[in-house]
Amino acid sequence: MPKSDHIVLVGPMGAGKSTIGRLLAANLHLPFQDTDRVIEERTGADIPWIFDVEGEEGFRQRETSALADMLSEGGQVLATGGGIVLKPENRSLLQKGGVVFYLTASVAQLVERTCKDKKRPLLQVDDPRQKIIELIEQRDPLYREVADHVVNTDRRSPKSVVQDIV
Ligand code: S3P
Repeated sequence: MPKSDHIVLVGPMGAGKSTIGRLLAANLHLPFQDTDRVIEERTGADIPWIFDVEGEEGFRQRETSALADMLSEGGQVLATGGGIVLKPENRSLLQKGGVVFYLTASVAQLVERTCKDKKRPLLQVDDPRQKIIELIEQRDPLYREVADHVVNTDRRSPKSVVQDIV
């Protein structure tokens, strides 16, 4: 099956997927969507509520169905949640669905960009830095499995990352 014409951004929380995705879409005159926002709109609740009430597995099911629907639409820029690569089904959807960019950053940067945020249930733990390290160890090979390109966002402005991708 040929690759469809989506541009998909994957990577850990704090890599800048949403910010860069929005800028990139504007630059390319394409629509922009973010799996987390689509899930929240469909559910009528925010991510912490979904994790609380339905658990992570409930959220992951919603994530897979949002991703499949978004990829079935016309070409656009898509930002995805950091855990999108966990399910083999999602990885296969991503590989077929478009050109995938893996946005990376150092642990220090990821901590800096996410530390004030209370909207990421997986980081509401005693040691968010350690959690970020564990998530990256688990997920980095999975991001690389689906990625066509790897882009480092460390200490760079969103604008310069967008220029790289374009
Ligand atoms: C998650 C990342 C979040 C969101 C949810 C779970 C993860 O998205 O989907 O809190 O498992 O890494 P961002 O990567 O946009 O923060």
